[in-house]
Amino acid sequence: MKALLLSGGSGSRLRPLTFTGAKQLIPVANKPILFYAIESIRDAGIRDIGIVLGATGDEVRSMVGDGSQWGVHITYIQQDAPRGLAHAVQLAEPFIGTEPFLMFLGDNMIQDDVRPFVKDFENHRCNALVLLSEVLEPQRFGVAVLSEGRLVGLVEKPKNPPSNLALVGVYVFDHHIFDSIKKIQPSWRGELEITDAIQQLMDDGLDVDYRTVDGWWKDIGKPEDILDANRVILERIPATIQGSLDDQSSVAGRVQVEIGATIVNSVIRGPAIIGQGARIENAYVGPYTSICPNVQVLNSEIENSIVLENTVIRDIETRIDGSLIGKNASITASEARPRTIRLVLGDQSRAEVR
Ligand code: G1P
Repeated sequence: MKALLLSGGSGSRLRPLTFTGAKQLIPVANKPILFYAIESIRDAGIRDIGIVLGATGDEVRSMVGDGSQWGVHITYIQQDAPRGLAHAVQLAEPFIGTEPFLMFLGDNMIQDDVRPFVKDFENHRCNALVLLSEVLEPQRFGVAVLSEGRLVGLVEKPKNPPSNLALVGVYVFDHHIFDSIKKIQPSWRGELEITDAIQQLMDDGLDVDYRTVDGWWKDIGKPEDILDANRVILERIPATIQGSLDDQSSVAGRVQVEIGATIVNSVIRGPAIIGQGARIENAYVGPYTSICPNVQVLNSEIENSIVLENTVIRDIETRIDGSLIGKNASITASEARPRTIRLVLGDQSRAEVR
C-alpha cells in the first residue's frame, strides 16, 4: 500500500502565520503538524508516500526532504491551484498506479493509530474505507448518513447536517476512486470534493465502509485548533531536561527542556516544552506552552501559548495567555513617552490589549 499526504491549501484562517509559511508546518509541541501525519503513515507500515503540494511547496520540500529522516520515500506532486482534494488525488494517479492507498490530509491530527484501519481495509477488501468522528459542528465537515448502521450517503458541509458524524481526513481507497473522480463536477466552492467522489463510488454500487475513531481528532483550521492540539500533545511528551537550569529556577510537571536551552531564575510549570537555544530568564512559563528554538522570554510570563522561532518577549507586565506568536517577532515594553501601544502587525493579525 502507498500513502498520499495532502499539503496544499491556503490556510486563510491562520493568517498572518500562513502568509509566510504552510499551515501544515506550524509546530505543535515544537514539531510541524505535517510530521505527525508522516509518523502515523510510517507507523502503519507504509514506506512510499506521495505529498501533494500547493503554493507553499518549496517550504514543505525543504523541511521534509526525501523522507529518509523517517525511513520513508517521498515523491512530490505539485498542484497548480487549490482545485480540491479529489483533484489532488487525480494528479497523484501516476504515482499511485493500481495499488490501494491511504490518503491523509496534512492538516489533520489524529490520536488513534491508523494501522488497524489499514489492516481492516486489507482484510475486508472494500473499495473505500472512511473514518468518522462525532463532532459538535458537523456543518464544517463532510457528514455521513447512516441507516441501520450502514453508510448510505455523504454530504460535504451540509447546512442541515443529517448526523453529527464527520469525515475525518484519513481514508483508504482502491483504484476505483480514479474513475469516480472523472464523473464528478466541482462543488459550489469550485473544488472537486473527495466526499462527492466517495458518494459516486456508492452510487456505482461499490463497497464503501466506515470505522469510527475513539480518540482525539483535530482538523487544524484556526489558531484555537492549534492551541487545542498543543495542549493534547504536550500532555504526552516525555519529561526530559537536557538544557541548563540554574539554582534559582524550578521545573514542575511534564517539562521538556531541549539541548542548548537556558533557564535562569525562572519557573517552568508543565506541560511545556522549551526548544533548543531558547533563553528563559526572570520569567514564568506556565502549562500548555511551547517555546520554539531560539526564542527569548525575559522578565515576562506566558502560558497556554505557542511561540515560534527567534521571537523575543521582554519586560511584559501582563501574563501572555492563549497566544500564537509567529517567528522573528518582538514583543517588548517601552518607557518612552507618551505611553502608547506601538504595533507593527502583519495583515490579519489579532492583538488584544488592555
Ligand atoms: C475536508 C473534507 C471534509 C472533511 C475535512 C476533514 O474539508 O472536504 O469532508 O470532513 O477535510 O478535515 P476541508 O478541510 O477541505 O474544508
